[in-house]
Order: sequence, then structure tokens, then C-alpha cells
Amino acid sequence: MSGAGGKIGVTAPMLELRDVARAFPVRDALGRSKGAVRAVDGVSLSVPRGSVLAIVGESGCGKSTLGRLALRLIEPDSGSILFEGEDLRSLSAAALRARRRDMQLIFQDPFASLDPRMTVEQAVAEPLRLHGIVPRAKERDRVAELLSRVGLRPELARRWPHEFSGGQRQRIAIARALASGPKLIVGDEPVSALDVSVQAQVINLLQDLIRELGLTFVLISHDLGVVRHIADRVAVMYLGRIVEEGPAAEVFGNPKHPYTRALLAAVPGQGRGAAALLEGDVPSPINPPSGCRFRTRCPHAEAICAEQVPPLADHGHRAACHLQHQLPPAIARHERDAGGERLKRLQAFFSDQRTGE
Ligand SMILES: Nc1ncnc2c1ncn2[C@@H]1O[C@H](COP(=O)(O)OP(=O)(O)O)[C@@H](O)[C@H]1O
Ligand SMILES: [Mg+2]
Repeated sequence: MSGAGGKIGVTAPMLELRDVARAFPVRDALGRSKGAVRAVDGVSLSVPRGSVLAIVGESGCGKSTLGRLALRLIEPDSGSILFEGEDLRSLSAAALRARRRDMQLIFQDPFASLDPRMTVEQAVAEPLRLHGIVPRAKERDRVAELLSRVGLRPELARRWPHEFSGGQRQRIAIARALASGPKLIVGDEPVSALDVSVQAQVINLLQDLIRELGLTFVLISHDLGVVRHIADRVAVMYLGRIVEEGPAAEVFGNPKHPYTRALLAAVPGQGRGAAALLEGDVPSPINPPSGCRFRTRCPHAEAICAEQVPPLADHGHRAACHLQHQLPPAIARHERDAGGERLKRLQAFFSDQRTGE
């Protein structure tokens, strides 16, 4: 890659993954080894400070595993993960624990992620205490501050999780994630369990927080509609690999990989054809197709696609497809214009939802 920005060596990305892989052993009912699921299989990514990277793809393609690897909640089998240019493996246990305050995870299910036996105040204060963020005497004030930051009245601090709606619970989970003052947050499908109208509110909240606090955010989602609104860059995953990656406007406006095109076409209102294209299940990650893993579902596949793994090469932005130069244009111009119209309507819808729950 070119160093045209001139910043290389001066400002390290917040997060960098280099050829990261992680497999999980698979056993049959008798406990005999049946091989391994290559959940993440050679992923390289860079997330600049203060940016939002979206990771999209169908269920089972390795998004959550990648998110957990990025936060060092699980260890890679190979490859390296750098946080602010530093390989966390080089840190002592104590130094790693201290580093944990800089990295937080928001889960999909706010019902499962909040302990039903803790009040809101206890839940939000826990990371404050764990990382010694504020003295005990200041705890209550800090919790109140965090709650109002996520759009909840501080009086609610004494209540229990079951007293809240899904959207409110997710706000509490966000307040808890913010408590330690993180630099990087991974949101693993953070709005997927919520009603559509509430999704928009929570996404808007996240977007405001990212801007105000200068957060770096990795947003994992199978829903391209959610991602379009907030991502600076998008990485598309298929069976443990990244098949396309680049600036969001590029990936959405001029998708290169047939899989990305199929995903985009499957977004409601984005035209026909995708349903047929993505028929059939994702192949097993235990024994993935040779060459290009998407070839068994790709309408364009040729012999070379079975023979060689396509490199993630720069075609304006990065895409891993042998047939890049002979594919038809991604979207005919009139369709793209219509897509722009749809996008405007979607954004208008999102901004209408900004006024409270
Ligand atoms: N702890 C685990 N043990 C065994 N297999 C796992 C484990 N975690 C994930 N997998 C497998 O790895 C693949 C990727 O899973 P995941 O990262 O959860 O995908 P996604 O979040 O995109 O749905 C799936 O085939 C899943 O079954
Ligand atoms: Mg997942």
C-alpha cells in the first residue's frame, strides 16, 4: 500500500490485524476429532483512530470471532493484533488488565449482557470500580453523568434491568461500556435484537457518542442498512475471509465482489435477483470450497475460481475476485441513482427517529 497519507510511522492505527487466523476443533458425539472450523482464516485489517469500521456478512462467517480476537478475548492461532501499534501479547498480565479499560464490547442481547441481580447503578459502577476510574464518593455522580450521556434519566439508576425496554437496556449496556473511558469499542450486532424504530435511535446514539468522544468503533452487523448509516469503512466477510474492504461510499456505491453485490441487492428495496443469487446455504467452514470460497454460490464462477485463492487486491478498493475485470458493472447508472434516492430516504427516516424513545 502507498504511504501517501504521510502518517505511517507517526500515528499507528488504533487497531491492526495482520494475517490473523483462529480455528475451533470440532468433535463428534463420541468426542473424536472431526477437524476444525476455520472461523477466521487469514484476516488483515487496519482501523484508523476515530473511525468506524463495519464488518458485514451472513451468520457464521466469523464476525463475532473476529471481534473477540480484536479485543483479545480469545487468542489467535497465528497472525498478530496490534492495539495502538502494540502487540498485547508482549504485555505482562497486569499491564494487559490495565489495557482492558481501553477496549470494550457491546453485545447483541441486552437481556443477557446485564446481570438481573444488579441495579443499573451497580452495573454501570462496576467497571468504574474495577479500573479505579473515580473515587467511591464520586461514583454516583459519574454513573448519573454516564446515564444522561446515553439518554437515560439519572433517577433510573436505582431500578433493575427487568424494568426497562430492550432499547433502554442497550443504552444501559452502552453506559457500562463507556464507564472505563475506552478508546476502542466493538459492537457485536448491537441493535439486531431491537425493533426497527428503536434500532435507528440506538444507532444515532452510537454515532453521536463516537463523534463526541472520538471513539474508534468496530460495528459488526449482518444488516447493511444499519451499517450504511454510520460506517467510514466496510469489510465484507465470507467463510472466515475478507472478500471486499474499503471506504463505505466505495463499497456501497461501487461494489466489486459478487458476494457484496448479492448482499446489497438483498437489502429491502434494493432490487430483485439477490434472493436467487444467495440461495443455498453457506458451505461448511469445516471443509470450505477450494479456491474462492464463494464460487459455489457465485453466478460468474469459472474454472480458475476453483483452482486458486483470489488475492484481496486493489481494484480501486480491495476485493478478492479473479473475474474482477470481466464482471458487468456493479449497478446500472439508473439503478445506482435510484439507490441514492433510497439511501436519502433511509437517512431521512433515521434522522426523524432522533427525538427520544
Ligand atoms: N467457541 C466455538 N467453538 C466451536 N466453533 C465455534 C466457536 N465460535 C464460533 N464457532 C464457529 O465458527 C464459525 C464462525 O462463527 P462466528 O464468529 O460466531 O460467526 P458470525 O458472528 O459471523 O455469525 C461458525 O461456524 C461457528 O459455528
Ligand atoms: Mg456473531
